[in-house]
Amino acid sequence: MLDCQKDKFNLSEEISYINCAYMSPNLRTVEQAGVQAILQKSQPWKVTRSDFFAPVEKLKSTFAKLINCPDSQRIAIIPSASYGIASIVKNVHATDKDNIILVGEGFPSNYYSWKKLSDSTGAEIKIITAPQISSPKGKIWNKNILDAIDENTIAIALGNIHWADGTLFDLEKIREKTNKNKALMIIDGTQSIGAYPFDIQSVKPDALVCAGYKWLLGPYVSGVGYFGEKFDSGEPIEENWINRLDSQQFENLVNYQPDYKTQANRYSMGEQSNFIGVPMLQKSLDQLLEWGVENIQNYCKNITQKPIEKLLDMGCQIEEENYRVAHLFGVKLSSNMDMKKLKFNFEKNKLKVSQRGDAIRVAPHVYNNSEDFEKLIYCFKRSTSQKTIF
Ligand SMILES: Cc1ncc(COP(=O)(O)O)c(C=O)c1O
Repeated sequence: MLDCQKDKFNLSEEISYINCAYMSPNLRTVEQAGVQAILQKSQPWKVTRSDFFAPVEKLKSTFAKLINCPDSQRIAIIPSASYGIASIVKNVHATDKDNIILVGEGFPSNYYSWKKLSDSTGAEIKIITAPQISSPKGKIWNKNILDAIDENTIAIALGNIHWADGTLFDLEKIREKTNKNKALMIIDGTQSIGAYPFDIQSVKPDALVCAGYKWLLGPYVSGVGYFGEKFDSGEPIEENWINRLDSQQFENLVNYQPDYKTQANRYSMGEQSNFIGVPMLQKSLDQLLEWGVENIQNYCKNITQKPIEKLLDMGCQIEEENYRVAHLFGVKLSSNMDMKKLKFNFEKNKLKVSQRGDAIRVAPHVYNNSEDFEKLIYCFKRSTSQKTIF
C-alpha cells in the first residue's frame, strides 16, 4: 500500500488540491526535467540528431508499458486528445446508413470531429444520455449503451469513465458488442489512464487517445495515442517530415520520401521531439510505473471510503461503487445544501475541486491525505445550514 506522496510534489501546505481531473500538479522530478530542458535550448549546438528520436522512442515504450501494449510502434505522440480524435475520424468511412455512438455530455474534444463527419456524410450520431435517476444510474447507462450498438454502428467513442462524474463504462462488454457488429471502439483515456488500470490486451480498442496533463502527470501539449491495425494505412491530419521513412537521415530530407514510418508513427505530431514536453512526460510516466496504477487507485479508494460514507449520510448522491472509480467521482448535493455557500466555503478553506453540472467533482491523487478530506466534509457540513465560515 502506498503512503501519501505529497513530498514528491511542489504543493503548498495550506491548499487542499483535490482536482487532478482539471490538471495535475508537477512532480518535482517533472519540474526539474522541464527547467533543464528549457536551459538546453540556450545551447542548441548541444541538441544532437539522436535527441530528435531516442527520447520519443523511450517515451513510447514507457507509455506502452503503462497500458500493457507489447509494441511501442503502436504509440503516437499527439498534442491533445482532440488531435488524436481528429486523426482517427479522418480515417473512418461513413455513409448516411451508418451511426456513431457517443455518450451524453461527453467531453467536446471527442465530439466535434464526429459531428463534422456526421454533417458531411449523413451518418447519424446517437448520443446515449445518462439516465435521469441517481441509482443504479451507471448500470442502466451501460445497458443503454450496449443496446444502442447495432448492425449500422460504425464506431463508438467514449472514455473508460465519464469525465464529469466518474461513471465507469464496461469497455470489455462494449468491445464484445462492437466486434459482433464490426464497429470500431475508440477510447478517450484522458480521465482514467494513469490512475485506473487499463490493459490494452484485454480491452482491445481500435484506438486510444490520452491528453498528458491530468492523470499522466505530464505537461500540457504532451499527449499519447494508440493506433491499432485498422489504422495502419490511414492518412494523418498533417504531413510532417519526421513521420516519413528514414527521417533520421537529415542529409536526405529533400529527397522527398513517399512512405510513412510504420504502424502508429504516421499519426505523431509535427515537432513530436518536443524537447521540453517529452522529458517531462517521461519523468511522470516513470513515476507512475514505479508506484503502479493499481496502487494509485487503491490509495484513492482508501482515502475516499470514509468521506464518501459521510457524504452519503448527509444525503448527498454518489454513484454506487461498482459503477464508479475512486480517483474521480461526482457528489450531488442533498436537498438542504446550497451550492453557492458550498463554493464559498471551499474558497475560504483553500480547497480546490470543480463543479461539473449540478455536482462537485472530487478528483484525488496520491498527494492528497485525510486532512484534505476532513476539510471537504467540513465544507459540505457547513453548507447545509445558515452558517458561513469567515
Ligand atoms: C475526457 C477528456 N478528454 C480530453 C480532455 C482534454 O482534451 P484536449 O486534449 O483535446 O484539450 C479533457 C479535459 O478535461 C477531458 O476531460
